[in-house]
Amino acid sequence: MRFTDKVVIVTGGASGIGAAAAELFAREGAHVTVLDVDARTGEHFETHQRMLGHDITFFEGSAADQTSVKSLYDTIERKHGHLDVLFNNAGIALDSYGESTTLADWRTVMDVNLDGAFLNAQHAVQTMRHTGGGAIVNTSSICGHIATTGAFSYNVSKHAIIGMTRSLALEHAQDGIRVNAVCPGFVNTSMGKADLADDPTIPQRHPMGRIAEPKEIARAVLFLASTDASFITGTSLLIDGGYTAQ
Ligand SMILES: NC(=O)c1ccc[n+]([C@@H]2O[C@H](COP(=O)([O-])OP(=O)(O)OC[C@H]3O[C@@H](n4cnc5c(N)ncnc54)[C@H](O)[C@@H]3O)[C@@H](O)[C@H]2O)c1
Repeated sequence: MRFTDKVVIVTGGASGIGAAAAELFAREGAHVTVLDVDARTGEHFETHQRMLGHDITFFEGSAADQTSVKSLYDTIERKHGHLDVLFNNAGIALDSYGESTTLADWRTVMDVNLDGAFLNAQHAVQTMRHTGGGAIVNTSSICGHIATTGAFSYNVSKHAIIGMTRSLALEHAQDGIRVNAVCPGFVNTSMGKADLADDPTIPQRHPMGRIAEPKEIARAVLFLASTDASFITGTSLLIDGGYTAQ
């Protein structure tokens, strides 16, 4: 119960890696608010989690929408008076090549993956620095360390998340705010399944011969957000079954 009475926000938390992390945070005693654009899935997730006795609240909105994000952090401050953890996880992927991607498609990816991550991190540090600090875990990817063909905008966005992680870690090391990133290989979520449908060889490309389950990423997120990681800031943790060791 490392998160008893801790206040946690998970962006993109209605499904996939975010939902797995939200559930684990709540199991360990946290009050969790999930921000997601998908109202149907988010409401269903909240109802199911409440039946399990978990304190998870769904908040509908885009991580990249300034009004929604401001409203979320205002609500958290009013309700709890502080914020302990942000799992800054909302992200999308579009097939793209540098030579041919349109500006509109580029902006669609950057809007969620970068503007969304930036806005939430900024609001989180503004809240945390006045209330004794906290931890931010950003979701990058193996595509933040290496490039995969056909994922041009996504690769760029996930490299940038590592830059944002390091920059914020430096800026807020003295404020008691630790900022780290997780870098998953392929994961068994709707995003991972879409990749797998395009390329069935993906599991074999991981030395462990399979893709990850969302919980395997979520456990690393909880570690980085917990006091077990009290001297870890500015790092990006690869959780990839050996993919980038090759
Ligand atoms: N699945 C993988 O193979 C994989 C690998 C490496 C990194 N990642 C990263 O992990 C994160 C989570 O991905 P996932 O696999 O769980 O995907 P997913 O598609 O299963 O879940 C993503 C969630 O984010 C929500 N979302 C999308 N846009 C949003 C927005 N603008 N605001 C708020 N919520 C939004 C979706 O509704 C969905 O609930 C992403 O940042 C992704 O890039 C995924």
